[in-house]
Amino acid sequence: MQKASIMPDSIEQAAKLLAHAKTVVALTGAGISVESGIPPFRGKGGLWEKIDPMTVAHIDALENNPERVWNVLIKDMKIKLDNAKPNPGHTGLFELERLGILNTVITQNVDGLHQRAGNRDVIEFHGTFARQRCMDCDKCMDTSQVDLSTIPPVCTCGGILRPDAVFFGEMIPHEALINAQRAAAACDIMLVVGTSAMVQPAATIPFIARDNNAVVIEINPEPTPLTSRISTLLLMGGAGTMIPRLVQQIRNQLETT
Ligand code: OAD
Repeated sequence: MQKASIMPDSIEQAAKLLAHAKTVVALTGAGISVESGIPPFRGKGGLWEKIDPMTVAHIDALENNPERVWNVLIKDMKIKLDNAKPNPGHTGLFELERLGILNTVITQNVDGLHQRAGNRDVIEFHGTFARQRCMDCDKCMDTSQVDLSTIPPVCTCGGILRPDAVFFGEMIPHEALINAQRAAAACDIMLVVGTSAMVQPAATIPFIARDNNAVVIEINPEPTPLTSRISTLLLMGGAGTMIPRLVQQIRNQLETT
C-alpha cells in the first residue's frame, strides 16, 4: 500500500481533490476540539493518562457506581464542554459545507461543537453530553434542564441520569451506526480529522470509505494507524491551523476553475 504523502504541497493536492469531489464526508475525533480547550483521550495530556477508562468510562463502572463515575469523569468533562467554543477547525468545516464541498460530519465527539459552528448534517457516533438519559425509564432531557446540585442527578421517576453518550462496553446508537456506514460508503473523499483511529467501530469508518474507492485525507499532527494503510495524504498539523489553510487553498482553486 502506498504511503500517505506528507510533503509541504499536500494542502494544495488536498484542495485540488476536494474542489472537484462530488461527496465529501468528515470523520472527526477529540483532536479537532483540543484547540477549544478539551483535552484528547490518548497521548500526551490525554484524559486516559490520568484516569483508567475501564474503571470510569465503562458501562459496568457506571452501573455499579454512578456517583463515582459522575464525580471522577462526567462532572469534569461537563465543565470543560460548557466552557468550550468552536475553534477555526470547526468553523473551517462549516465553511467547507457552505462552499458546497462537505456533505456530512461523522463525529466521535460528544461536545456539540460542529453543530455550534453551523454544520447541519452531523452524525454523533458516540452520542452527546447535551442530553441526559434516565437509567431506569430511558427518558431524555436537555442537560441544561438537569439539577446538578445532587450527584448523581436524578430523573422525575427517581432513576439516575447519565449522559446520552456511549460508554465502553455499549453499542453505538443504531441510527448513527447505519447512517455513518452509509455516508462512508457513498463519499468520494473522507477527511479524517483529529482521531487516533484506535477505537472500534469508529476506526472502521475510513476503511468502508476506502473500500468504496474514496480517497482518505487525514489532518493530524501525528501519523495514525490509517496513515500508512489507507490514507493518500496526511496534512500534518493541528486542525485549527490546517483546516483554515485548506479552505483558503480550495477558494483559490474554485476561483481559478
Ligand atoms: P484520541 O484522544 O484517541 O486521539 C486524538 C487524536 O487527535 C490523536 O491522533 C492526536 O494526534 C490528534 N490531535 C491532537 N491535537 C490535535 C489538533 N490540534 N488537531 C488535530 N488533531 C489533533 O481521540 P479519538 O480518536 O477521538 O470514546 O478517540 C476515540 C474515542 O476514544 C473517543 O470518542 C472516546 C475515547 O475513549 C468513548 O469514550 C466511547
